[in-house]
Amino acid sequence: MSFKEEVEFLRSRLYKWEGDANTFHKEGPYIEVVTSPSNPDGTIRRAVVNRGGKLIHDLAYYWPQYTPITGAADHDIILFTFSKCTGHAGSRIGWAIVKDEQVASKMTKFIELSSIGVSKESQLRAAKILEALNDGLENDTRSDNFFEYGRRIMAERWEKLRKIVESSSKIFGLLEYPDEFCNFSKGITGSYPAFAWLESKKNEDIANLLGAHKMLTRTGTRFGTESKYVRISMMSRDEVFNLFLERLAAAKASNGNDH
Ligand SMILES: Cc1ncc(COP(=O)(O)O)c(C=O)c1O
Repeated sequence: MSFKEEVEFLRSRLYKWEGDANTFHKEGPYIEVVTSPSNPDGTIRRAVVNRGGKLIHDLAYYWPQYTPITGAADHDIILFTFSKCTGHAGSRIGWAIVKDEQVASKMTKFIELSSIGVSKESQLRAAKILEALNDGLENDTRSDNFFEYGRRIMAERWEKLRKIVESSSKIFGLLEYPDEFCNFSKGITGSYPAFAWLESKKNEDIANLLGAHKMLTRTGTRFGTESKYVRISMMSRDEVFNLFLERLAAAKASNGNDH
């Protein structure tokens, strides 16, 4: 996530980056950003500081293709983006649900000042995409339903990745996610995060290890943790994802194939 970089770039006199909320113990006002499912590791998160500060819930990945929709979100400030909903990152469209009218108008002002208004082309495109999504949901033949389709693809990819990782459990590790009832699908579903948070079981610098096999990943230190973790995108094109699986299997073979 780029929260730290953004806060430091803006150099506001009103706030500064204080790092991981789990280790934040200062008194006084604070803003806590709760990203759920989390980027990079796909886990479900809740506010942890709980001392009356402001909360921003970033639900960029709270879509049925990634995670069971366990309930209606009801927070003061909720952020969403098209980029993770349908993959239209380039349209630069997101939206927020905000309870406090004053906060909402400050946010609108910020967008106006920083972008001089959101591109009309993007707005038209986003409206069209929403229409297509909605039509798919209304027809509700499962194959037309964008989110069910997305989940199927994500589930297949995760299954393939887990197979390789499980056959090399002394080298690599992945998180497990609970199956839960999804109110959108009306059934128990699994979690298939947009990123895989891969761990080196031998505590090696895993981005380096994968890099040696021509896999570009984002190292754990970029997310405030150790280099034995990397974030891997599960959303690349089919050819890229399949190539990644091939190379991961080759990396596993050359690092000792034992369970
Ligand atoms: C958790 C989270 N929130 C928000 C965003 C921003 O998405 P965009 O700027 O494409 O709307 C991202 C993108 O990576 C993200 O991972």
